[in-house]
Amino acid sequence: MKWSQFFNTTIGKKLLVGATGLFLCSFVIVHLAGNLSLLKDDGGEAFNTYAAFMGHNGFIQFLAWGLKIVILLHAIVAIQLTIRNQKARPVKYAVRPGNKTSSWFSRQMAIMGSILFIFLVIHLQNFWWAMHYGDIGKVSYGAVTEVGNLYEVVYFAFQQPWLVILYVIGMIALSFHLIHGFKSACQTFGLNHKKYNGILHFIGVWFFGILIPVAFAAIPVIIYFKQI
Ligand code: HEM
Repeated sequence: MKWSQFFNTTIGKKLLVGATGLFLCSFVIVHLAGNLSLLKDDGGEAFNTYAAFMGHNGFIQFLAWGLKIVILLHAIVAIQLTIRNQKARPVKYAVRPGNKTSSWFSRQMAIMGSILFIFLVIHLQNFWWAMHYGDIGKVSYGAVTEVGNLYEVVYFAFQQPWLVILYVIGMIALSFHLIHGFKSACQTFGLNHKKYNGILHFIGVWFFGILIPVAFAAIPVIIYFKQI
């Protein structure tokens, strides 16, 4: 079977969604670690130096474009799988089975994924576009000269309560999406085994589902309250 044929099968698509999803899980950890420097009271030195490094390093820029392709691939293949599942079951169940395979999280994946996608489009327009194509102020710190003042752009943006609320909603969607997504990817790769289920459940629910989204959501909330 050719690769193109394999990725057209349901299992091929599931593997693609799972692999891209796990890659995106690793991205959110790195992204959160970098963004936490926004909370340092150093006038933006740590964050702007980090953002300038990320924006100018050739290898990281290559990864950054790859990341956007992975996000699109993940979303498109997940939509294809949802449509395929719906077509396979044209008559809806009179009573939804409340079993493991059709949990509440599973049924909400498409909705939460869509909210997350809308969040991402707004988010990239807010900061990524501003950083790379916008006309933002420049700042220098000792040896680090003339870097874009993205810190100022972020602080300015999070003066608006509606944007802070939008980010919190986005992070609630991220939480639900990651709780089910992580578990589902582990099942696709056959990692669900009695021996590992406890630790995988802990990582999926407490780390990706709670700690990561809460820490992300805290950033706009803290920045907002620091400025009022
Ligand atoms: C809520 C707190 C968040 C803050 C304050 C934040 C901040 C930022 C900033 C300042 C940038 C621009 C960096 C640059 O282009 O150099 C950026 C880019 C980006 N963010 Fe976020 N982010 C947050 C949450 C998220 C979440 C939850 C996701 C994914 C689910 C995400 C995905 C991205 C992506 C894909 C980029 C483009 C990365 C690149 O091209 O290098 N962000 N974010």
